[in-house]
Amino acid sequence: MAILNISWSLATLLFSCIALVVTSHTFPPKFFNVVRYGAIGDGTTDNSQAFVKAWKDACAYKGRSRVWIPNGRFLLSSVSFEGSCNGSMAFLLKGSLVAPTDPSSFTDTWIAFRYVSALAVKGGGSLDGQGHSAWHLNDCQSNPHCKPLPVTLRFDFVRNSRVQNIESVNSKSSHFNVFACENLTISHVKLSAPADSPNTDGIHIGSSRSVTITNSLIGTGDDCVSMVSGSQDIKVNDVVCGPGHGISIGSLGRGHEREYVEDITVANCTFIASENGVRIKTWSPSSYSKASNLVFENIIMKNSKNPVVIDQYYCPSPHCYMQVTKIQFLFLIKFKLIIYLYIGKIKLGCANRRCDI
Ligand SMILES: *[C@@H]1O[C@H](CO)[C@@H](O)[C@H](O)[C@H]1NC(C)=O
Ligand SMILES: *[C@@H]1O[C@H](CO)[C@@H](O)[C@H](O)[C@H]1NC(C)=O
Ligand SMILES: *[C@@H]1O[C@H](CO)[C@@H](O)[C@H](O)[C@H]1NC(C)=O
Repeated sequence: MAILNISWSLATLLFSCIALVVTSHTFPPKFFNVVRYGAIGDGTTDNSQAFVKAWKDACAYKGRSRVWIPNGRFLLSSVSFEGSCNGSMAFLLKGSLVAPTDPSSFTDTWIAFRYVSALAVKGGGSLDGQGHSAWHLNDCQSNPHCKPLPVTLRFDFVRNSRVQNIESVNSKSSHFNVFACENLTISHVKLSAPADSPNTDGIHIGSSRSVTITNSLIGTGDDCVSMVSGSQDIKVNDVVCGPGHGISIGSLGRGHEREYVEDITVANCTFIASENGVRIKTWSPSSYSKASNLVFENIIMKNSKNPVVIDQYYCPSPHCYMQVTKIQFLFLIKFKLIIYLYIGKIKLGCANRRCDI
């Protein structure tokens, strides 16, 4: 009898396993149209509640969910789309999202995706950060306690996901900020802001691994792509940068702990009229940090003022002193086949003997 009982429970267990496999395939993809949740694409109604409701329902659904944003101009105040979710998520943006002009209505973020896996953000639509209304409030060059302006799109703790075929214009601060992400691919995006707009980085990456940026056009007022502490296994391939400050690694060494950046490949990129090409910068003074296995290959520069900059005395504000700490960065950099169509100055700010290039 005991034996029978055991085999019966085994059979039940087996059956429930099968049932689990079957059900995850039987949920069809489902669309969650924000208009059904009350969103109005007239450019003036604030739609954040409707968007968050649509996201929550999509997130609870066990199959493949698609949050659908049709054509129209959808005004959206600060929102956070959070997981974890019960199935894979797509944020399908056909229309455009418009940020409020008043920066006091924000934290440091306009739109955030947090703690989500298997997310796709795509659809050919656009994000309008309305930066013109806020850039004049950026006083970070002179005010050490300045309030940061909001980032257009933040990815925090996002894994196994992709962002493709969307456009972002006139971000108030960075266009995309990638933090604590793993296996994220960003492709076919177009990010733009005027050359003189302050701190409008294209894509800023920190504490993340396995991030690929490919087939994209980035022209802004600050870095095209910047990679700071904890960036590991980052590939930037087939990206056109300019105007802007180029692709930069760092600034490193501002924190007190060891900072590292490793396994970075920048390949097949073109810089057009950018202030810099590739740049590595460490704060002055800086704590011990490590930047290793950095590869730059097949880089074309057209009218870039400083094609290669290695700056160990980086200090954008008037409050630092020109001192390089004793333990220096370890650079292991390979520059392969850099083609300058216009040769500018190569600036090397290496300290003493430890700058091994
Ligand atoms: C996932 O599904 C369960 C069961 O239907 C539900 O209780 C839970 O709230 C869902 N999770 C999310 C994040 O919505
Ligand atoms: C990385 O993410 C993609 C989805 O964008 C997924 O198909 C792939 O399996 C993931 N890779 C790993 C190693 O998890
Ligand atoms: C750069 O482009 C060449 C030619 O298309 C390709 O073979 C190579 O793999 C690319 N490099 C990287 C690192 O993707």
